[in-house]
Amino acid sequence: MLALLFLSHFREFAFSACLWFTSMITKNVEELIRKALLSGPMPRHMAFIMDGNRRYARQHNIPESQGHTDGYYQLSFLLKEWLTKTNIECMSIYAWSILNFGREESQVAACMKLLEEKLEEFITLCDTMIPLFEMHGVRVAIFGRTELFSERIQFLISKVEEKTRSYKTRRLMNIYLSYTSADEMTRSVEACVNASLDSNESLPIMAKDIEMHLDGFFPAEDASIPPVDILVRTGGAKRFSDFLLWQACEHTQLQFVSTLWPVFGPWDLLFIFLDYQRSKMFR
Ligand SMILES: *[C@@H]1O[C@H](CO)[C@@H](O)[C@H](O)[C@H]1NC(C)=O
Ligand SMILES: *[C@@H]1O[C@H](CO)[C@@H](O)[C@H](O)[C@H]1NC(C)=O
Repeated sequence: MLALLFLSHFREFAFSACLWFTSMITKNVEELIRKALLSGPMPRHMAFIMDGNRRYARQHNIPESQGHTDGYYQLSFLLKEWLTKTNIECMSIYAWSILNFGREESQVAACMKLLEEKLEEFITLCDTMIPLFEMHGVRVAIFGRTELFSERIQFLISKVEEKTRSYKTRRLMNIYLSYTSADEMTRSVEACVNASLDSNESLPIMAKDIEMHLDGFFPAEDASIPPVDILVRTGGAKRFSDFLLWQACEHTQLQFVSTLWPVFGPWDLLFIFLDYQRSKMFR
């Protein structure tokens, strides 16, 4: 009996030791990979279309809202373990498209609840994000037609931006909420036309004027977000879904990966970085 008890405990012990060992190895390997990568050219700005949360939920027989929550945790993990440690200056994520408001009511409500929760967590410091953002001086900027959200969410959004505004634009986390590229361009053209009407002069509208009125220009610092170097879409579809079409039209490297967002991890990133470095070095 005693021997059995011992044996069962030993098995537990061996199992946890084994887990510890594997995680140590993984950590060290990841560290090594990061070091090797940093000796080559790295992107300044990475953008993500985080597709696959719902499919992930269906595959794992969990509620869709849980799929979105898992996706959120994957985002914080990547931010913490990878993006801040690889000196990427700017990360943009497509968190909510204007078109998503057309989804089923219960689904929209669940996503809005998650959004509210996460913004609240962020503000009340109970998340791991604020210390992390403080440590790396990450400024959060939220772009899109935020007036389409509830007043509560709009209030939380302004709070989040306020909390990190002092970090200027050294490191940026851009969250596109209630956004589509077509809408962004429309707003920009409208602003150009308004400016032209105000000035009473019929000046021609140039591409650079439209660019200046796109999201991502910080007038107080006279700074803009850097050009998008890599645009990643997870989940296997090869579509832009109306995200950063103006910004990604020139030198952006497009990466369509089949991994679903909640399981998109360091290995996926590694291949993307390697591909980027290869294209930079052998062009
Ligand atoms: C342009 O002007 C109109 C009319 O004054 C105003 O309603 C609209 O919000 C302005 N648009 C932009 C993008 O500034
Ligand atoms: C614009 O033009 C109108 C009509 O020609 C004129 O009354 C107004 O003073 C002008 N405004 C500016 C800012 O030049």
